[in-house]
Amino acid sequence: MEYLLDHYKNPRNYGSLQNPDITHEEGNPSCGDVIRIDLKITDNKVQKVKFTGKGCAISQAAASILTDMIVDKDVDYIKEINKDDMLSALGVTLSPVRYKCGLLALKVLRSGVHGIKNWPGEEE
Ligand code: FES
Repeated sequence: MEYLLDHYKNPRNYGSLQNPDITHEEGNPSCGDVIRIDLKITDNKVQKVKFTGKGCAISQAAASILTDMIVDKDVDYIKEINKDDMLSALGVTLSPVRYKCGLLALKVLRSGVHGIKNWPGEEE
């Protein structure tokens, strides 16, 4: 829990990019929390990433954790991050009602980069 709270209180990669190659914002319709992710992509790699958002501690901390995970990674790697990878990266076990909090950032990222619209874990 401390790891998650640290990311909430001291978010990594918080802010906006000037002239991002991709910018995408989406929310969780059930609560109205939103996350926007800006990306700079060079040679198919994530060169820079920033996010802004508002919402619960889990959704915002997850955005901080996820953005840290993808710096310098190939954009195809983003497609491979699945629900379980994201939930385990949080370092806490969420109850199923909070899954969407933990997965919102990944949803925004996959939707912005690959156009994948559904929630992680609901693609099958
Ligand atoms: Fe809205 Fe967590 S309560 S994403």
